[in-house]
Amino acid sequence: MMGLFKRGSEKKAAKNKGAESSPCAKHPEVIEILPVLVDRFDELLQDQGLERGSTTIITGGAGTGKTTFCLQSLYHGALAGDKGVYISFEEDTVKIKHHMLKNFGWDIEKLEKQGMMAVIKVDSSKTARMVEGTLAKEVGALRIELSKMKLPLKPDRIAVDSLSALSIAFENERSYRKYVRELFEMLESYNSVNLVVGETEQNPDVYSRTGVEEFLADGVVVLYNIKHKGRRKNALEILKMRSGGHVKQMVGYKITSKGWQVQVEEEWEEVLRGELPKQAKAKKIHLRKMKDK
Ligand SMILES: Nc1ncnc2c1ncn2[C@@H]1O[C@H](COP(=O)(O)OP(=O)(O)OP(=O)(O)O)[C@@H](O)[C@H]1O
Ligand SMILES: [Mg+2]
Repeated sequence: MMGLFKRGSEKKAAKNKGAESSPCAKHPEVIEILPVLVDRFDELLQDQGLERGSTTIITGGAGTGKTTFCLQSLYHGALAGDKGVYISFEEDTVKIKHHMLKNFGWDIEKLEKQGMMAVIKVDSSKTARMVEGTLAKEVGALRIELSKMKLPLKPDRIAVDSLSALSIAFENERSYRKYVRELFEMLESYNSVNLVVGETEQNPDVYSRTGVEEFLADGVVVLYNIKHKGRRKNALEILKMRSGGHVKQMVGYKITSKGWQVQVEEEWEEVLRGELPKQAKAKKIHLRKMKDK
């Protein structure tokens, strides 16, 4: 497939082995990389996966496959021996599991019984009321719902779905921003690979509700749903990945009965020429220019 990331230097491999940086408590000598395991997505990343302790936002319009992406990663991760926790702020957990089994044949309940996965629901309204109540009382440092929440297992991967469900439960943006900061800190502390779902317009040029989310995140992956000749096609863009290099162009994908499938680039040229929103085009050109240097 054209456009997959070609490993230039072996810098990250060295980092993986701990040969580069000097160790300290906050910056451990070895940063373990876990593969995302969503079809060929890992091939788009220099590291072929994401760092433990990192948080990546998966954002896009309605129905672009955000939930499927996260659960595909957790499910295949669990099959490979890594534990996964899926935290839903929105959908009912029984429904989620039912849809994943029906649509893709992923038996999440079986993995839950084996202690490899947990799908839990957190009430976004309760969380928001609690945070806003705490802030109103101005009680010292804010350590909220999630730090109290006992995860049923020690996760290697966590998915949080979704920030938008959470944000609409908040009455004021300041509290939401504060909570998001706490949430990201809490996720980081698990030393797991964290995926956080966001929500945007169908073809976004704004990638999160307040902007603070994409600033806090280590990585941002944007999912597009592009109308072309009366049909909709999907493409992803890795907008940001602090941990290392990644493919800079848009990459097509589709959702099939096997879940996410990354598509070859050639099929995408025509679509990408005509249909992208202005800013995304500019971003793309900018990223390409940087790459060419
Ligand atoms: N077996 C399947 N074959 C093909 N496409 C499927 C299949 N199952 C689901 N889909 C597609 O996946 C889409 C939903 O994916 P998903 O729920 O992961 O999206 P989402 O971005 O999380 O949506 P939302 O914005 O509602 O949270 C459906 O709209 C449907 O088009
Ligand atoms: Mg969803």
